[in-house]
Amino acid sequence: MDHLSSHPQPPISIPTLTGATRLVGVMGWPVAHSLSPAMHNAAFAALGLNWVYVPLAVPPERLAEAVRGLRALGFVGCNATVPHKPALAQLMDELTPVAAAIGSVNTVIVRPDGSLLGDSTDGYGFLTDLRAHGVHIGEAENRRSAEATQRQVAKMKGRPEAGVVCRRALVIGAGGAARAVVFALAEAGATVAIANRTVASAAELCRMVLAALPTANVSAHPFPAALTRLAADADLIVNTTSLGLHGDADPLPWDPAVPFRRDQVVYDLIYNVRTPFLRLAEAAGARAIDGLGMLVHQGARSFELWTGRPAPVEVMDAALRSVCSA
Ligand code: ATR
Repeated sequence: MDHLSSHPQPPISIPTLTGATRLVGVMGWPVAHSLSPAMHNAAFAALGLNWVYVPLAVPPERLAEAVRGLRALGFVGCNATVPHKPALAQLMDELTPVAAAIGSVNTVIVRPDGSLLGDSTDGYGFLTDLRAHGVHIGEAENRRSAEATQRQVAKMKGRPEAGVVCRRALVIGAGGAARAVVFALAEAGATVAIANRTVASAAELCRMVLAALPTANVSAHPFPAALTRLAADADLIVNTTSLGLHGDADPLPWDPAVPFRRDQVVYDLIYNVRTPFLRLAEAAGARAIDGLGMLVHQGARSFELWTGRPAPVEVMDAALRSVCSA
């Protein structure tokens, strides 16, 4: 998700490096826009860990070589952003079930024996951020753990939000970012309608999800033709396309003639601009959430996988907000 940003290169603080410094980083092409170094280095500093997180500009044709290099250079692991997530899934020794299901890796763990485990923490980041905003997917079991997260985050932010349960989601887009979101929602028990300009891609995403979750409730629809009908049914609407990254210069990932309701939650994966889509939802009184928290929580999960320590989520959140507003 790290690509849904229009921000110029953020400042990166350089820790004191020693022979014992542990290495992690993010592979992307380009990678200069990534906010992850600022977020992770702030977390290492806050916990006094002798670790560093570096941007790694890797052209697609050199990805396999770069992945072999992780092992050779003694990296603990790495993240991946556009365009490497699908290709990386082909280069791992083992995949977690979610990474295998969606064919996408955003987190690599180099195990002590040198083997590579690929995971995808994007769906976790998305669901955790929803919970942090009081939005619960599916049934009671999810809700209990959700309420604990919500209390923690509400305390952190000093602004509790009322809880809401969503069971019917409408996801706009069927590209790479949609895979993690649709899978996470379906696995949590939501009914998911995918609306995409190319309906065949939405149908392909449904097949991918059903192959791993045969009882999932997912369906494919044309964008924008099906929006009126689908929006009337949805309690959660998610934009996974990058439309809105360039503000009003982009087409809306929506049909402005289709109204939002006050009881709907509207989420945009784009995280450092308030998109026209979110502004439209907000003006209609819907609960409008940007993707910054998803970026924080997917990063927090990677941090925990590498370090084995609880991530300082509030430090990571503050670091991101400070580079976004710089
Ligand atoms: P990402 O990896 O960020 O999801 P992507 O794979 O290029 O990026 O997917 C972009 C998504 O935005 C796709 O669902 C795409 O629709 P198509 O499958 O029809 O290409 C959608 N998208 C991009 N531009 C669009 C536009 N002008 N109108 C509607 N949908 C658009």
